[in-house]
Amino acid sequence: MQISVIGTGYVGLVTAVLMAELGHRVYGVDIDEKKLAKLKKGRSPIYEPGLEKLLVKNLDRNRLSFSSSYEKAIPSSDVIFVCVGTPPLPDGSYDPKFVFSALESVAKNLKKYAVVVIKSTVPPSIGPSLKKIMDKNTSVSYDLASVPEFLREGSAVRDAFHPDRIVIGASSDKAKTILLKVHEKLPGERIIGDMLSAQLVKYAANAFLATKISFINSLAILADKIGADIDTVVDGFGSDHRIGKSFLQAGLGYGGSCFPKDTHALISYSDSLGYDFSFLKQVDRINDKQIDYFVVKIKNMLGSLKNKTIAILGLAFKAETDDMREARSILLINKLYKLGAKLRVFDPVAMANAKAILKSKQLYFAKNEYDCAKQADVLCLVTEWPQFKKLDFGKIKKHMKKAIIVDGRNFLPKEKLKKMGFSYEGIGRR
Ligand code: UGA
Repeated sequence: MQISVIGTGYVGLVTAVLMAELGHRVYGVDIDEKKLAKLKKGRSPIYEPGLEKLLVKNLDRNRLSFSSSYEKAIPSSDVIFVCVGTPPLPDGSYDPKFVFSALESVAKNLKKYAVVVIKSTVPPSIGPSLKKIMDKNTSVSYDLASVPEFLREGSAVRDAFHPDRIVIGASSDKAKTILLKVHEKLPGERIIGDMLSAQLVKYAANAFLATKISFINSLAILADKIGADIDTVVDGFGSDHRIGKSFLQAGLGYGGSCFPKDTHALISYSDSLGYDFSFLKQVDRINDKQIDYFVVKIKNMLGSLKNKTIAILGLAFKAETDDMREARSILLINKLYKLGAKLRVFDPVAMANAKAILKSKQLYFAKNEYDCAKQADVLCLVTEWPQFKKLDFGKIKKHMKKAIIVDGRNFLPKEKLKKMGFSYEGIGRR
């Protein structure tokens, strides 16, 4: 089939590559010429394991091309995936302007029936506005549909090729049949329904996962208070098959471009309908407070933070990505900075993005982990990069002023570190 993917960010680029790999002919459309120039040369603008290899492979076999031209891509397309961003607004809602303008351009260039799939995360209320834009700009027949995306940054390629489920929401049987065909080579359960329900599935998934994280972080604080060990607790209650152990990693809380934005959007969407989703508000509040809890832990070990040297290992919002959006490191650094600490920071891939965001602060951007640890009173683990586990902690200890580690992801080998003479603190970890 002929496919267009509008927007070549995380979701769009992975979708484009996936569709090409499944055997479809794919046009990736974006308004950012710099990004397009990179993509045409087979270079991925984002750090995502495995993505560049598939990009090059499908460019070479002419299944994939990139352009800023809707005129070129849309007329021959059977399916159009809209994957543009929906940035958050200050009031917690989201900004649909990119979805609206992409849809207008799609509609103006339709020459034959196509299924227009909204992959951008938008609240269900948006449906009538989308239809209005389409109807105003085209007389060609079309169907709107929603196929929400569940891939995670850092494992986006693996997630895209091995989905647990594919949710298809559309108003017509014709569109549902076409979308089933498009995805037929992929594994996973098929859940077919209406567009409203499909859109709500996406919010439900992210809100529920965020809930698990705030739950485990609350429980970890309780574990700290009584001297229990959260890892053992998770093993114990997570072994119940009705509960499961995944997404119960206590730490600094959730960040990234999705959970904070989507929980806020669902809260504000519910408010707009006159429903106070107080449960989710609490999930969000707990997440906000988790950084303060971490700072208190550091203070308990160091006393005043004024002029204390703090090494921050990991800046990206999670491992295997260079994405700094809503990274917990930013909030933490802001708080520690305000308290007068001297900060040395390091991340294996997100340094450039971090520098751009944190440039107003006088931070030392370290060359590597050991340089980061130099003369530090405490070392804080903020992002769980696998390479941090393999560090020569003897060398780290020699570099530090005091052998103190506060682990914001419960990630480092605590027993080994304790044996080596480090004072080690995790979150709810004994
Ligand atoms: C999330 C969802 O997991 C995807 O299914 C969804 O498609 C995506 O949002 C999206 O809406 O586009 P992502 O933001 O890439 O994916 O990252 P996650 O792996 O879900 O992690 C989100 C945050 O939660 C990170 O800050 C991570 O450190 C934190 N987290 C995750 C925890 O604190 N504990 C956990 O147990 C798991």
